[in-house]
Amino acid sequence: MTMTVETRRLALRPVEAQDAAATARLMTPLVAGELISWPSPMTAAQAAERIERSAAGLVAADSADLAILDRRSGALLGWIGAAVIGGERRLGTLGYWLGEDFHDQGYMTEAARAAVPWFAQALRLDAIEACIHPHNFASQAIVEGLGFQLKGRRRIFADTRGAEEDFITFAVPSAVLCAAAARRANRKAAAIG
Ligand SMILES: CC(C)(COP(=O)(O)OP(=O)(O)OC[C@H]1O[C@@H](n2cnc3c(N)ncnc32)[C@H](O)[C@@H]1OP(=O)(O)O)[C@@H](O)C(=O)NCCC(=O)NCCS
Repeated sequence: MTMTVETRRLALRPVEAQDAAATARLMTPLVAGELISWPSPMTAAQAAERIERSAAGLVAADSADLAILDRRSGALLGWIGAAVIGGERRLGTLGYWLGEDFHDQGYMTEAARAAVPWFAQALRLDAIEACIHPHNFASQAIVEGLGFQLKGRRRIFADTRGAEEDFITFAVPSAVLCAAAARRANRKAAAIG
């Protein structure tokens, strides 16, 4: 399975040591505040440690994190990742973020459409879930656009903030996700042809 995924404006590939400084720089309080376990401020050393853990997860096929890069400049815009959280079925949990300067330009919609079916295959997932703050409407729109369905609410301990917080949970079976991706690809091919 190819490790690099390209979209119209983006290139996605597993995070690498060279991404540490930019990762730390982009992890501002506004971004980290929507995530469960990312600190802000974040040092380059903390980012490097996370990248090392991610490389081990990829080898074990129990997690994967892709750097989201501007295809033209190669600049790091953010991350999108998934990790297996077990259960009877092979369930994965999805996480993603962009640096503040890159919000509201459709980048995560574009990245997630390519990356999420990739995670389903690479991590052999039966289903994927996402836990999103109730106020994070952009993130909810992204997963709904991929076919995720609302499942319920959950209190989750956000270790970087030392507190339990409310999240809304969404989930999608991998088969539904991959069928939707295939339909999008077919529509695109028909439009080109
Ligand atoms: C959430 C985040 C990933 C969104 O990425 P983005 O690239 O800015 O999002 P997009 O531009 O692709 O927009 C996503 C969708 O949300 C919609 N949207 C944006 N703001 C919205 C709002 N306030 N209310 C409702 N919908 C909104 C957009 O219209 C778009 O929907 P569409 O494709 O149907 O038009 C980005 O803001 C981010 O990184 N935030 C900080 C970290 C974070 O929240 N991560 C997710 C944790 S669950």
